[in-house]
Amino acid sequence: MCGVFGIIYAQDTNELGNTLIKGSRKLVYRGYDSAGFAAFQDKGSTLLRKGPGMLEEIIRKENISEFTGSRGIVQLRWATFGEPNLENSQPHYDSDKDIIGAHNGNIVNTEQLIEEFTQEGMTVRGTNDGEMVVHAYEKFYNQLHDPKQAMMKAQTILQGDYAFICGNVNQHQLLAVKMGSSLYMGVGDTFIVCSSDLGSILQFTRNIVFLKDGDLVLYNDSEYHIFDIHTGKEIQRPVEECTINIEEANLVGFDHYMMKEIHEQPKKVQELHDLLENTQSNMDDCIDLINQADHVYLVASGTSYHAAVVGAYYLNHLAGIHAVPVLAGYFNEYYNVSPTAKDVIFCVSQSGETKDVINVINPILHNTSAKIISMVNVIGSSITQKSEIVINVAAGLETSVPATKSYMNQLFAFLYLATYAGSKKKLDKAQEIHNQLSQIPNLLQETIDQVKEEAKEIADLLVQRGSDLYCLGYGIQYGTALEGALKIKEVYYKHCEGMYSSEFKHGPLSIVDEGYPILFPASPADDHMVISHINEIRVRKGNVIVISPQYHGYMKAASRIVAVPDSDHYFIPLTTVIVLQLIAYYASIQAGLNPDFPRNISKTLTVD
Ligand code: M6R
Repeated sequence: MCGVFGIIYAQDTNELGNTLIKGSRKLVYRGYDSAGFAAFQDKGSTLLRKGPGMLEEIIRKENISEFTGSRGIVQLRWATFGEPNLENSQPHYDSDKDIIGAHNGNIVNTEQLIEEFTQEGMTVRGTNDGEMVVHAYEKFYNQLHDPKQAMMKAQTILQGDYAFICGNVNQHQLLAVKMGSSLYMGVGDTFIVCSSDLGSILQFTRNIVFLKDGDLVLYNDSEYHIFDIHTGKEIQRPVEECTINIEEANLVGFDHYMMKEIHEQPKKVQELHDLLENTQSNMDDCIDLINQADHVYLVASGTSYHAAVVGAYYLNHLAGIHAVPVLAGYFNEYYNVSPTAKDVIFCVSQSGETKDVINVINPILHNTSAKIISMVNVIGSSITQKSEIVINVAAGLETSVPATKSYMNQLFAFLYLATYAGSKKKLDKAQEIHNQLSQIPNLLQETIDQVKEEAKEIADLLVQRGSDLYCLGYGIQYGTALEGALKIKEVYYKHCEGMYSSEFKHGPLSIVDEGYPILFPASPADDHMVISHINEIRVRKGNVIVISPQYHGYMKAASRIVAVPDSDHYFIPLTTVIVLQLIAYYASIQAGLNPDFPRNISKTLTVD
């Protein structure tokens, strides 16, 4: 959801272009509708090159590696205000081109501001909200001639959440603000840098300042000052050594990151298992909180919500903890309750930056003392900063926009949590499963090896038919069905609806004609219902492809069964989702698409 990166050195350097390129490559996951690069040079000149399209194409076309200067700003955009074209690409100049700035986030009163600024005689070139932040700063800078005062005033007319970096041609410094969107600062020996993405900084320095909402930073190559944007008072924030391990994105022989990340799942689950075994006191704290809670809400969006659906099943069935999965965007409206000190808001998010989730947390931090736990893949992210307890799913860098290995590790973390909590209550099934968790990495590897070819065949079949489809799930497999459907939509661009299988007869069944495709991840333990639901479709000539361990009941009822290795009922969501991930991947390739960067979306959604 847009990424911004701004770095400053003591003097002009030929390395600026390459540094900006390195920074930008770490931001691609946040948006790829357009990219732009700006440089400020000592003699008072600027360079600004940008445009719609993929990053590498712009780097090449615009010769970014030749950029020189002492300061530079990069922006990668995921379009919200204004279509992705040249004018709307960021960074933006102000009216007389002596200020350049870029943002990450979303200014909701953009329409009014365009009108206001135009009437005031400013040159508004596009319809992008990031440009409004530049003009708001310009407006007050021209009155006050002081960067800090100008930005303090500017924020009073900007509505929304954003992070912003800008520079004035004639001042050897950059200004950055964090107002609800992610922003980190890195302090190197010869430079200081601010960026929306922690990993983009860690490749240059491990000395990090974790900025907070409302921070206004003025920085040059050797010093920085942080102010409260509302009062102007200077704030001290420590420089911390960040020990997070950053992995380099590397295809290592795979054609796409999505496929590479699907294949990494057994290893990442193994690593997570080891990590959880070594950090049990964190799990103990988490279990204490949820055991004492009146309500446990599992709050998440997208794929993470699907993990929460399966996670709620695990917690309910294996630990007797009544956890409720809630779509983050739905929580405040639907529940309309003020969680109390005895409630737990358990946030699940790969990025730890999702705005829908932050919208649930922020009012809680201000108004109630409900406990916040988070399960994330990015330690140090905004959600972790707001949480009492953090569970690291440790899936490593996930480059592909579709979540695969992070989902798998979320499922595993929930399974570990539920079986550990149940074991502490001496529940037999929980103890039995907990003792088998170390077998899961092998089970996943076996699954990949066993189902790959068949997943490809199913994908061919779907592409040949070319229609929309359904992905149904019952009981433990509801989350899997939602996740499979999302993966297929996301990378194959065909509508695939995920649905609880008992709902199918309440209307959607009318869509079924001869050969209509239905994917049906299932567990043999649920056969009493699943067989009825399959039959209802089969008698109408639908093509029901069941994904399950080999089971005669399903073999008889279904059109076809894609068999995953036999396993305990509780492990089946982990194995069957691999088949759906692979089907989605192969369908995307067959359709000539790039599964790593599906059109119109972004990996980190920091807007409403
Ligand atoms: O970073 P989060 O897990 O909070 O992101 C939530 C969704 O945007 C995300 O899971 C999205 O649905 C996936 N990238 C889809 O593969």
